[in-house]
Amino acid sequence: MSFAADLLQGKRAIVTGGATGIGAHIVRRLGLLGAKVGIVSRKEENLQAAVNAFAADDGIEVLYRVGDVRAEDSVQSATQSLAEEMGGIDILVCNAAGNFICPTEELSPNGWRTVIDIDLNGTFHCCQAALPHLKQANDGGRIIAISTTQANSGWPTAAHAGAAKAGIQNLMKSLAAEWGPYGIRANWISPGPIKGTEGVDRLIIAQGRSDEVLERIPLGTFGDGEDIANAVVYLASPTGKYVSGTEIAVDGAARWGRS
Ligand code: COA
Repeated sequence: MSFAADLLQGKRAIVTGGATGIGAHIVRRLGLLGAKVGIVSRKEENLQAAVNAFAADDGIEVLYRVGDVRAEDSVQSATQSLAEEMGGIDILVCNAAGNFICPTEELSPNGWRTVIDIDLNGTFHCCQAALPHLKQANDGGRIIAISTTQANSGWPTAAHAGAAKAGIQNLMKSLAAEWGPYGIRANWISPGPIKGTEGVDRLIIAQGRSDEVLERIPLGTFGDGEDIANAVVYLASPTGKYVSGTEIAVDGAARWGRS
């Protein structure tokens, strides 16, 4: 790790969907750099297992609350309660997401609604709930949404998730403008395919699409969870203080077509 070990000392972060996948990499990196971190997701067994692993493997104490980002009340109470226990919130990472492969022709209205609800509405709920706390952040609050490069190109067979993520990107631009005067920076990171995630395991490898996808990545490999965590640290720490309303693509220069 090449960041100063105390870079995030005194910072307090919430990471939604922080028990698994990219979210867990982000939590680990924030915690190892000194931040207090609280994670929120739907399944207590995942949260408990993750918190135990963070303690045993990394020596970091992570807090958790059960919450569904789709439900405004659930987000409000998890956010409020974590803010009280941590003494505030400086960093919000909107990482929780839901997705599945389905040709749009076959997608039911409820399937569409479910993904929009988790990804886009969930991000809105989390930003609203964190706002009063982010306004009080010492060096300016940071909102970092985890998007995807396919929000820019279109996402055939996951149009629901592509549309939701494109909405998240636009939301970040609006928040950067509206909440900038509160000192809040709002940005998004667009990962390409990242090893060991549902996005690669279930949506690419299990569909037999690895070679086809790797051919479109000039750097010739899938990314690591740490690549995304490092981009989060850049945006969350003083290094990112003049960056707002924009994207950091961490995708090996992937080319998905029109964007
Ligand atoms: N293909 C087509 N439609 C699907 C589907 C699939 N693979 N998976 C879910 N849906 C549809 C359901 O049929 C339902 O619509 P219907 O009522 O018209 O039948 C709707 O989506 C809601 O599904 P349900 O399973 O009730 O929702 P849920 O809230 O329990 O879970 C997800 C929704 C997205 C979280 C679920 O698909 C899931 O668990 N995905 C795996 C985890 C994940 O997404 N991780 C992130 C990867 S990037």
